[in-house]
Amino acid sequence: MCEDLFVKIQIAESAVKPAPLRESLEPAPLPTVEGGFQTVLADPPWRFANRTGKVAPEHRRLDRYSTMELDDIKALPVAKHCAKNAHLYLWVPNAMLPDGLAVMEAWGFRYISHIIWAKRRKDGGPDGRGVGFYFRNVTEILLFGVKGSMRTLPPARSQVNMIESRKREHSRKPDEQYPLIEACSPGPWLEMFARHPQPGWVAWGDESGDEAPRGAVSKGYAGGAIERHGVDIPELAKYERIQDVEADALAADLHDMYERLGFSIRDIAAETGFTITRVRALLDRAGADIRPRGAVPALQAQG
Ligand SMILES: C[S@@+](CC[C@H](N)C(=O)[O-])C[C@H]1O[C@@H](n2cnc3c(N)ncnc32)[C@H](O)[C@@H]1O
Repeated sequence: MCEDLFVKIQIAESAVKPAPLRESLEPAPLPTVEGGFQTVLADPPWRFANRTGKVAPEHRRLDRYSTMELDDIKALPVAKHCAKNAHLYLWVPNAMLPDGLAVMEAWGFRYISHIIWAKRRKDGGPDGRGVGFYFRNVTEILLFGVKGSMRTLPPARSQVNMIESRKREHSRKPDEQYPLIEACSPGPWLEMFARHPQPGWVAWGDESGDEAPRGAVSKGYAGGAIERHGVDIPELAKYERIQDVEADALAADLHDMYERLGFSIRDIAAETGFTITRVRALLDRAGADIRPRGAVPALQAQG
């Protein structure tokens, strides 16, 4: 009877465990420096799941790299590689804030404060291309924690806890974080789960040595894009092929124009300069619910 209940609980638990989209990787040992790192920046490969335990569709399409179980992230022996007194800057997705705090604690740091990355469009407005089931996320959280006792360096006193900059490739964090951290927290600096190694920093992560990290997206997503309606549109020749990664991101943007902004396929073609066929194919790729020709978008129909 009791055993039955145990089996049921086990089944229920495994049913809500998010299934990895890619195989998980065994983490390599963390690097060491004499005296330990005084500052760590980490952007873990969180595994997203919705309440049914399925990977949410918006994250499925954003799959770019292997993810890790929360317990495996927590089990990384970060404290052992740090100095007695150290700072931690930990990126956490809005929906996973409690997990971020749990990881911070498991790594031996106590939460002090956080920095918000406000994603901006070229014109300075909020970049509404983020995903989100309840709200459209235009911010990300960088938690700040301390191990032992150590104040931030004097420049931190005039450093506001916000970074405002434009988004780049999928999941790439703003470069502004490096000078900010260097000014506020002492080295040696370690970046965990790094993809774009920085001079003066020790980088660790399965893509830290890649010349072209898997998250890298080419044209139109490198900060210098043409921008209309808050959507970055790369310029493409009529039959120019695009890579899968770029097509996914572009499809998501067009989907946004179609469903959220209420553009018709024809409008999108006119705005982007793409052929109707390309627009349709990209909307299909994003799983858009194609409206009958001439139909009023749901949003406008609601008034
Ligand atoms: C959220 S991304 C980091 C993005 C990076 N901060 C940037 O700005 O581009 C997480 C990274 O962790 C890497 N990763 C996944 N599993 C890993 C593992 N077991 N050990 C080390 N790195 C891993 C992924 O490949 C990915 O590069």
